[in-house]
Amino acid sequence: PDYDIVIRGGRIVTAAEVFTADLAIRGGTIAAIGHDLGKGREEIDATGRLVLPGGIDPHCHIEEVGADGSVQEESFVSGSRAALAGGTTSFICFKPQWRGQTLAQSAPDYETRAARSLADYSFHQIITDPTPEVLATEIPALAARGIRSLKVFLTYDPLRLTDGDFLKVLASARRLGLLVTVHCENFDAIAWQQEALLAAGLTDPVHHAWARPPVVEREATLRAMALAELVDQPLQIFHVSCGEVAEEIARAKARGQKVWAETCTHYLTHGVDDLERPDFEGAKFVCSPALRDRSEAARLWEAIRAGTIDIISSDHCGFSFATAKKDPGASSYGQGAAMLRPDGTPAFNAIPNGAPGIENRLTVLFSEGVSTGRIDLPTFVRLTSANAAERYGLGGRKGTLMPGADADVVLWDPELERTITVGEMQHAIDYTPWEGYRARGWPVMTIRRGEIVMRDGVLLAQPGSGRFLARGPYAAIAPRGVVPNGFDTVGRGSGQT
Ligand code: URP
Ligand code: ZN
Ligand code: ZN
Ligand code: ZN
Repeated sequence: PDYDIVIRGGRIVTAAEVFTADLAIRGGTIAAIGHDLGKGREEIDATGRLVLPGGIDPHCHIEEVGADGSVQEESFVSGSRAALAGGTTSFICFKPQWRGQTLAQSAPDYETRAARSLADYSFHQIITDPTPEVLATEIPALAARGIRSLKVFLTYDPLRLTDGDFLKVLASARRLGLLVTVHCENFDAIAWQQEALLAAGLTDPVHHAWARPPVVEREATLRAMALAELVDQPLQIFHVSCGEVAEEIARAKARGQKVWAETCTHYLTHGVDDLERPDFEGAKFVCSPALRDRSEAARLWEAIRAGTIDIISSDHCGFSFATAKKDPGASSYGQGAAMLRPDGTPAFNAIPNGAPGIENRLTVLFSEGVSTGRIDLPTFVRLTSANAAERYGLGGRKGTLMPGADADVVLWDPELERTITVGEMQHAIDYTPWEGYRARGWPVMTIRRGEIVMRDGVLLAQPGSGRFLARGPYAAIAPRGVVPNGFDTVGRGSGQT
């Protein structure tokens, strides 16, 4: 045979177009796209199917290790099985830094754990303590090893940066050609509201949302963008939850600033009312930024169609309901001291933040976006893989179907309807926010670097078969060359330490 695999007669979808052709794979990469291609060792009939680039989930928390030594329930094995089952072949998760420690001291075995992944992976390096050593030595060493994105938090007690420390990280990233990603919420505003809520006995899961209304997210987003503008450093805003935040980002973009934004699947399908589900079930929907009024989803779709938001991530963050109910404080992603209520459940501020979504991201977005006619197929590809590839330094290799690219390919049945239920899922969490959701459009086969890793829901890959994706320098994140007053503080060497 001429090829390892030939996929025949499918509708090929790229970031730009949709056309019917055959796709041939050899040696883990795409060898040819066209007609009358030679024989494959494996011949796949894709009639009636879409042929998509493998999904890239650029924001997910997998097997994260907290400063207290706690390890998140979703392991690299279960989390990457979930990814492949859902049509995602690559993801970027978070290497921690614990305050008071160097990068090397924080979770030194994290990369060894990650090597068990079945999907390809990379890391964002969380920076919580930008000491002179971290800035001058450790971050440059990371960049040299192909870790080209940093993550900062403007809230969460053990993670948040002051504005001054945030500026140092931005400056360091600009010098080295790294992307900075940011969680935007105002820590002090949340703490102030939270204290009042708890004092008033308002401790339910829904009060999580009361403690962090949209204005808290909007203020921090505006501040983050302003500081990035000062440094002339491109910025990726994580998990935009509502219209008023998207509007601020649109304004910054219109001024020419290099700022980009993602939202997450759950902000399109869920609302603050989910936090009021009885029997403490609202705890399943405690995430940050909080779920918003239902009317916000339409505004997020507008921002997606306008290109203000151009990536949909899962922000997969796995805490089982059973854990949330009885184990307050098991996560860094909470705020404040754990407090138990008379019935034994934790107050809202001790419920770990986050919800699982890596496995459902593509099917939910397809159902909500493509099957309803809100977006077309190339937009679906841009949102789920192509834009992330370009933004994070994986362009040409991932998120595209063209000769020479990695053969990460998903065969998609656009008509298949199934109900999402946790019992049929691969992830290790005991619930899904989409339990009972009738989804239209499902992956039926996932190919990762030329290997069939999922067929009709059956996982075929082995732990450790995923690869670390080292990322080299790339053009998308070059600074604009515009600084206030023409005085380039970074160029003068300030902010190094
Ligand atoms: O609630 C969330 N989003 N948990 C995960 C951590 C984060 O803030 O992204
Ligand atoms: Zn053909
Ligand atoms: Zn976050
Ligand atoms: Zn996150």
